[in-house]
Amino acid sequence: MQTVTELDMLRNVVAALRADRGTIALVPTMGALHEGHLTLMREATKHADHVVASIFVNPTQFGPNEDLDAYPRQLAKDSAMLEAEGVALLWAPTVDQMYPQGFATSISVTGVSDGFCGASRPGHFDGVATVVCKLFQQVLPDVAFFGEKDFQQLAVIRTMARDLDLIQPHVTAIHGVPTVREEDGLAMSSRNRYLSPEDRINAAVLPRAMKEAIGAIENGAEVAPTLASLEAALLQAGFSSVDYAALADVESLQRLDALSKRPTRLLVAARLGGTRLIDNMAVG
Ligand code: PAF
Repeated sequence: MQTVTELDMLRNVVAALRADRGTIALVPTMGALHEGHLTLMREATKHADHVVASIFVNPTQFGPNEDLDAYPRQLAKDSAMLEAEGVALLWAPTVDQMYPQGFATSISVTGVSDGFCGASRPGHFDGVATVVCKLFQQVLPDVAFFGEKDFQQLAVIRTMARDLDLIQPHVTAIHGVPTVREEDGLAMSSRNRYLSPEDRINAAVLPRAMKEAIGAIENGAEVAPTLASLEAALLQAGFSSVDYAALADVESLQRLDALSKRPTRLLVAARLGGTRLIDNMAVG
């Protein structure tokens, strides 16, 4: 596996991968890789001749009081994990490469980014859309892979790719990959390592309570009181606050007050001991 940190070099290596008419899959990450990321790499391998992974802790998607400085960075370890998955190229730009002096552009996707994490983390999805658009332009992949764990992020990226004509034959098709979970059901996330041992045990209440709420709603329970009980279960288990617990249409991400015939998702974000956990599951 080659690792490159400069854009000129990236373009040369990508051109060489393409020279044999090989197709390219891109898997963007912020590093601190876990089994969820490795699943994305494996999916990508099935769909393209060469997999390019990127590792970039993108400062523009972190708010002023968020965990940019604390975000785990372990490039050597990540690099060995990617190599073992057969990744062809690791693109690991510096912040100056990605945002040179005078950088002045931001992509803002309205609608799907307005509620949920967009409301709790102002500017977050502008940072995500801008860096992902840059990554697409830099690597020009045929396909790109993202985890469904960040369900709203996936909707934002799909909308951005559609609106900016990034999805065309021979350009990027966006694949969402189902969330990978720990044995107790907790969705894998690089941020789970922030949890204390006690909080880590309590964190499993989140997927459990979500499943219970989904079961109740599917059996005809009213949505609002069921979600109120879900929130109460989280607070009882030691979560300090619940940013949102809501049903949403999978495409528009409009909040739903009742079970719909269209594909629906339960989306939750809640804080446990200073760590913000998000999760989502299909309903119906
Ligand atoms: O999901 C992530 O790790 C990041 O938001 C992404 C898509 C790599 C953009 O920085």
